[in-house]
Amino acid sequence: MSLKSGGVAILDYGSQTAQLIARRVRELGVFAALIPYSATLEQAQEAAPDFCGVILSGSPASVYEPGAPTLPGWVLDTWKPVLGICYGMQLLTQALGGQVASAAQREYGMTALRVTRPGALFGELEATQTVWMSHGDRIERPPEGFVILAASDNAPYAAIGDPARRLFGVQFHPEVSHTTQGTAILRNFVIGVCGAHTAWTPANFIDATVSAIRAQVGSGRVLLGMSGGVDSSVAGELIHRAVGDQLVAVFVNHGMLRLGEADHVIALGRTLGWNLVAADATEEFLDALSGVSDPEQKRVIIGRTFADVFECEAAKLGTLDWLAQGTIYPDVIESAGTGRPGARRIKSHHNVGGLPDHLLGRLVEPLRDLFKDEVRRVGLALGIPEEIVWRQPFPGPGLGVRCVGEVTWERLEILRAADAILTGELRAAGLLREGTAQAFAVLLPVRSVGVMGDNRTYDEVIVLRAVTTSDFMTADWARLDPDLLARISSRIVNEVKGVNRVLYDLTTKPPATIEWE
Ligand code: XMP
Repeated sequence: MSLKSGGVAILDYGSQTAQLIARRVRELGVFAALIPYSATLEQAQEAAPDFCGVILSGSPASVYEPGAPTLPGWVLDTWKPVLGICYGMQLLTQALGGQVASAAQREYGMTALRVTRPGALFGELEATQTVWMSHGDRIERPPEGFVILAASDNAPYAAIGDPARRLFGVQFHPEVSHTTQGTAILRNFVIGVCGAHTAWTPANFIDATVSAIRAQVGSGRVLLGMSGGVDSSVAGELIHRAVGDQLVAVFVNHGMLRLGEADHVIALGRTLGWNLVAADATEEFLDALSGVSDPEQKRVIIGRTFADVFECEAAKLGTLDWLAQGTIYPDVIESAGTGRPGARRIKSHHNVGGLPDHLLGRLVEPLRDLFKDEVRRVGLALGIPEEIVWRQPFPGPGLGVRCVGEVTWERLEILRAADAILTGELRAAGLLREGTAQAFAVLLPVRSVGVMGDNRTYDEVIVLRAVTTSDFMTADWARLDPDLLARISSRIVNEVKGVNRVLYDLTTKPPATIEWE
């Protein structure tokens, strides 16, 4: 039996929380594939081999509006267990001859659920529990054969089921953390009702992936662009475990990394025993950026120079047969086009241009089945150090987009020193892993007047940016403790020569972005 077989297929109808359903199921050790609602049975089988149950996600749509996403015929024809969540439940109801209508009152937020028939879905769970609702439509009449399993004040059919046919529907969202027994409900369905295979663990993933890489790569050599981030480190270590020195990792230091970062990346490569080529191209990048302060121009120059340096280093390495990429599951879902109309993800700009043509179709992508949190778990199981595994996102162009105005070595050194104080203090306060999703310093292209001792100063300005976000598409500024901010500010003006003023960025995204450029 393969690692992915015997899991569940989740049909994506476009709910914001569709990916979360897959993550929750996988946390139970069961493989879950998120597939477009329009997928054929063959496509579902390919994504989730021998799946033993189906989950239908929620949706922003309404089942009776024209053009609303529908239930593919195979879902009921295969006689596998089905759990419909919110829209998925309404779709199931409609398909089986029940009735759905617009609720008199839209229900949004937490509500108390009263379980009336525990059975397969709620067995062992508390009779009253908190669940999270978000719906405008509701069930007016369940299909024949269905019974009420639970109710809330606003939704008399908050959970329904036909246990004999193993068909269930819940109006609330078991995947969100506000639903206190959500994981247990999903476990009851996935393991209890579907009898899913529970082999989806980091250790099994590592074994299966190492074997798959060996089979794919054979005796070929694999080129990896190493950035020191979690994805390239975990992808690299999986390949290294599979084929050892056939992996050649190239690390390009563009000179716009944080304090000590280049040394850390090189040390990590050594600790892991990789064949790592480190190219210090700082001068080349700074020369190319000289006199440039337009943000877009800076990005273009950094991207182009990166591609040139990487290509040049790759050319020195002799024959390379494969290119490793850190593609993760959300990238795969997005390119498959799921049910989320207009969904947009902030692209990472790590893609390496300028490679020999023959490598472009020869990709090794060991992380393409993993969500980010799973990449982290696999990283820990591989022995990758925690500070890499939990590293906050860092943009490809690095400090180049945080050094507003011209990028010079002197300005980068000021920014690095200030950033190290900010991140050091946040780490000490336990706020780097939880509490902030991204925190960094920005150097502004203005000077301000200050006084130090008896002397007037006219120095640089640092902005502290710290945000909370779950998806990086929207973000809020972190409500950091004023005493902590005071300590950071005072340390920066005292310890970083050339800075006499520190600001805290109080802007949400939108309208601002997280980065300043
Ligand atoms: P913004 O500034 O658009 O950033 O709100 C959203 C997220 O994307 C990261 N980011 C980048 N990552 N290359 C990257 O790899 C880039 O050019 C880039 N620009 C922004 C940013 O750090 C944040 O996490």
